[in-house]
Amino acid sequence: MRTLTTERLVLPPWDDRFEEDLCRLSADPRIARYLGDGRPWDRARALARHREILAHWGEHGFGWRGILLRDGGDERTLGVAALNRLRRDVPGIEEPVIEIGWWVDPRYWGMGLATEAAAALRDEAFTDHGAERLVALYQPANHASGNVMRKIGMLRHGDITGPYGEAMRVYVLDRSDWAAARAVPDRAAYRTTDEV
Ligand SMILES: CC(C)(COP(=O)(O)OP(=O)(O)OC[C@H]1O[C@@H](n2cnc3c(N)ncnc32)[C@H](O)[C@@H]1OP(=O)(O)O)[C@@H](O)C(=O)NCCC(=O)NCCS
Repeated sequence: MRTLTTERLVLPPWDDRFEEDLCRLSADPRIARYLGDGRPWDRARALARHREILAHWGEHGFGWRGILLRDGGDERTLGVAALNRLRRDVPGIEEPVIEIGWWVDPRYWGMGLATEAAAALRDEAFTDHGAERLVALYQPANHASGNVMRKIGMLRHGDITGPYGEAMRVYVLDRSDWAAARAVPDRAAYRTTDEV
């Protein structure tokens, strides 16, 4: 269980210190707006997820991480970034595949923090956990999250309907594309437009 660091961020593995952060972030309507049914989580739901996150780490050796500023200027948790074993059926996506996701406290939106954290977890998935494919899903109105996917090199795979009847756009990144992009220094940031 290693802590990831980026230029500005520290991304420790999940532990009990993040329990209250999860309750605070998931109760914020701006965070919950494009998650599932769009309703903020109550405390019981957040606490249940906290326990699931710890269990996922125990079972798989990867999972959710807190997002903290590296210079310690603000000790509050700025958000969460997550790798999960995919828990739903997505047409054309076969196991084993790792799902990636992110939430950032609205006070820090637009600073590139989600993209910076996501790139670190993307590399972790391929480097440490042998992923062959990374997948991410977002509701089409959630433009910021779609932008993060494209900025870390993910490509549009298709659309599905989620468990609440919501439209969801599916993005993927295959190991071969990730490795090819890393091999070319000029393409280190990956493609940023792929709309087809
Ligand atoms: C999605 C989310 C994590 C993005 O966090 P962030 O730290 O602001 O993202 P970044 O600063 O890395 O921005 C990524 C890109 O999206 C763009 N962007 C940010 N907010 C945007 C918005 N409301 N509409 C359109 N684009 C937006 C940024 O400009 C950036 O693109 P650019 O570099 O080309 O300008 C944040 O909006 C969030 O926490 N949302 C609620 C939780 C959520 O929906 N998570 C994703 C579920 S799929």
